[in-house]
Amino acid sequence: MTKKILVIPGDGIGPEVTTWGKAVLEKIGKDFGHEFTYDEALMGHAAIEATGSPLPDETLEKAKASDAILFGAIGHIKYDNDPSAKVRPEQGLLGIRKGLGLYANLRPIMLFDELLDASSLKPEVLRGTDILFFRELTGDVYFGEKTRTQDFASDLMNYNRYEVERIARKAYDAASLRSKRVCSVDKANVLETSRLWREVVQEIAKEYPDVETEHMFIDNAAMQLVKNPKKFDVVVTANLFGDILTDEASQIAGSMGMLASASVGDGTGFFEPIHGSAHDIAGQDKANPLASILSVALMLEIGFGLPEEAKKVTAAIDKTLKAGYRTGDIADAKTDKAKILGTTAMGRKVLEYL
Ligand code: IPM
Ligand code: MG
Repeated sequence: MTKKILVIPGDGIGPEVTTWGKAVLEKIGKDFGHEFTYDEALMGHAAIEATGSPLPDETLEKAKASDAILFGAIGHIKYDNDPSAKVRPEQGLLGIRKGLGLYANLRPIMLFDELLDASSLKPEVLRGTDILFFRELTGDVYFGEKTRTQDFASDLMNYNRYEVERIARKAYDAASLRSKRVCSVDKANVLETSRLWREVVQEIAKEYPDVETEHMFIDNAAMQLVKNPKKFDVVVTANLFGDILTDEASQIAGSMGMLASASVGDGTGFFEPIHGSAHDIAGQDKANPLASILSVALMLEIGFGLPEEAKKVTAAIDKTLKAGYRTGDIADAKTDKAKILGTTAMGRKVLEYL
């Protein structure tokens, strides 16, 4: 298979972790005889520094011309503490999501048995959890009109029927191949957008008579997720609710450093860890590269339709964890101190097992 991959390392720990995602992809390419070619582009703070724009035109053009994108992380502390900044790194990520029409963000909560003790939740609550989130990614309050005066601010939350239809269909299609359950999360007791959401999901549900549907309010879902995560299978929700709920859900997998995501639409797919740029540990060889490597597994499976290759990648991670190796974020009191590794050593271990 021949594929053009655009690597966008981004900010903070992005470049460090992406190095290992790419290394794994290169090894898979060689081992399976695929011709993967690579290009690189700037986005976020790194792009602002170099060009003044968080999403240079060249990056979007390269992105459109590629078959898949491997992205690192975005953001910089400088902007987090300056709410008045007009140009912000995150605009790059939102711009590319919109520009590529990446309306569906898939966030699988994959639980490695070895990490049951790394979570702050009890192992017996977690064991057996397997959730696939479908977060709508190009609508909602993220993209609604924004206004601001000295003493007033507003972000418009809006949804069109077609936007809900297409993400709901993706979720139901996936549920048809899994445990045939969809939980749609909204706030229909308060928000008009959520009432449209619920109405549309109820209509789409009729097209899938063998899939069971549950509607849940976001506040209740946030509670149920830590009380009994096993009750969820496929979850579909709006952009902002999904952003928050998946950070919460990452604790089920032990760490933000373990969660990968795939953003898809009708064109090029975009694969990235769900974690941020973590400037507190950037450049210190401390970041967990596993979310980037798992993003590569998603690229292989969802982006390229190569499930065998994807399985090889997750199996290599599994072996690394079974052998006791951990980065700091997933180590616990029982971890052998000599097996707590930095980014580079952890990346190398996964490659060895691969
Ligand atoms: C995510 C991130 C982004 C989001 C930020 C960096 C804009 O938190 O991908 O979850 O809010 O979507
Ligand atoms: Mg987020």
